[in-house]
Amino acid sequence: MAKENPTENNLFKNIVSHAKEYGFVFPSSEIYDGLQAVYDYGQNGVELKNNIKNVWWKTMTQLNDNVVGVDAAIFMHPTTWKASGHVDGFSDPMIDNKDSKKRYRADQLIEGKAEELEAAGKKAEADALVKKLARLLEADDLKGVQELIINEKIVCPISGTSNWTEVRQFNLMFSTQIGSVAEEADLIYLRPETAQGIFVNFLNVQKTGRMKIPFGIAQIGKAFRNEIVARQFTFRMREFEQMEMQFFIRPGTEMEWYEKWKETRLKWHKAIGLTADKLKFHDHEKLAHYANAAVDIEYQFPFGFKEIEGIHSRTDFDLGNHEKFSKKKQQYFDNDINKNYVPYVVETSAGADRVFLAVLCNAYTEETVGEGEDKKQRVYLKLHPALAPVKAAVLPIIKKDGLPEKARKIYDDLKLDMRVIYEEKDTIGKRYTRQDLIGTPFCIAVDHQSLEDDTVTIRHRDTTQQERVSIAELKQKIRREVSYKRIFEKI
Ligand code: GAP
Repeated sequence: MAKENPTENNLFKNIVSHAKEYGFVFPSSEIYDGLQAVYDYGQNGVELKNNIKNVWWKTMTQLNDNVVGVDAAIFMHPTTWKASGHVDGFSDPMIDNKDSKKRYRADQLIEGKAEELEAAGKKAEADALVKKLARLLEADDLKGVQELIINEKIVCPISGTSNWTEVRQFNLMFSTQIGSVAEEADLIYLRPETAQGIFVNFLNVQKTGRMKIPFGIAQIGKAFRNEIVARQFTFRMREFEQMEMQFFIRPGTEMEWYEKWKETRLKWHKAIGLTADKLKFHDHEKLAHYANAAVDIEYQFPFGFKEIEGIHSRTDFDLGNHEKFSKKKQQYFDNDINKNYVPYVVETSAGADRVFLAVLCNAYTEETVGEGEDKKQRVYLKLHPALAPVKAAVLPIIKKDGLPEKARKIYDDLKLDMRVIYEEKDTIGKRYTRQDLIGTPFCIAVDHQSLEDDTVTIRHRDTTQQERVSIAELKQKIRREVSYKRIFEKI
């Protein structure tokens, strides 16, 4: 496997600890020692994640006049997954090391080796290895994949040996049973992608919404995959959330829409505050069973560039197969060309949890401030104000002289519009630090002058600069900064 940079590795460890310590992400059922690759969002995490999902939802359904939403069930008729190809084709090639008894994704072992080669300046060799892997997977040549692992002298990071089993395909879908009597119950799957809930509702939405092609259907919801190699915190989970949009188009126009959605989605990630230099496209070497073109948007996490969203040209694969399996026409009559056809689809598929993790990593800032003896480390989350879990904290500088009453009035007024916190315990400095750690963009300090001239100070999180503003204009000022409009203006 590729070696990780120790400094970046430490940085990621700090981010993971921060997420837990400040109520963003907790291991699931932690009192029972947790459940591998399953996580819960805490009081701040859920606000941040909801903001990400809301911005995505509104971007799709509010800024595009031809995209509408649905909320389909997690359980679907089992034939859905036959038609979609997931029963037969949704698997990862796994290999076990006989000495350590550890299981790995065979493709990831080889990709790790390619990353090592590239890091050692052997880019051509690395590219050739990735291409070889793609060819073997394309041909479903699992023996060839095993030979490649052995020939490349790839060893298990635990045992250090190359005593490998053969490579086997492992289906990633979770199954359970539906029905009241076990013997009569039907096997059913937890959906591995939300997209199929959109495909099976294509005609319902098109007809009831009088939608004209090109149009899109968006959805946010849970998806489940039995990931064998779960690593890197919430990056690869067994239960996660997707934000997917299927854009239905006339056949032959797919490359034009594919390019358009690629650019639009990259812009969105920049608009929510992800650093432009840390985002890039990565074309797929191996296409999924449904795609004729596919690209990932990758973010540079402390553990390297990794996928946060996929854009796929899915042709008429899904609707065509649903037509075949359900024996119900999935066609659209295009008035403009006087023709019936099964629409093609370009899909944008982002992981809410991966975007969350990218936003968290991007925001986590360690800075050294002060000089000489006063030198200390300052940690804060430089979140886009529109995504921050708490928009402002209202803080009377002392707990007497009528300051708490004055501050409460400001708090009661602001809370009608946004999520705010009122705090009077501890020194003002400690309270500022607590807000920095959860990324609150504005702290409003109420002091004796406030009683005299109805002004307060606003302290800005990133610069720690303070400005005096009148209480009358406070709400308007903060509301403008934390509005989703700030993001929409950049898309
Ligand atoms: N409908 C297409 C689809 O599901 P995908 O590339 O398998 O495509 C789309 O997944 C996105 O879902 C990924 O870019 C990623 O952000 C997220 N995702 C996939 N598997 C995940 C996992 N195990 N944990 C967290 N997010 C995941």
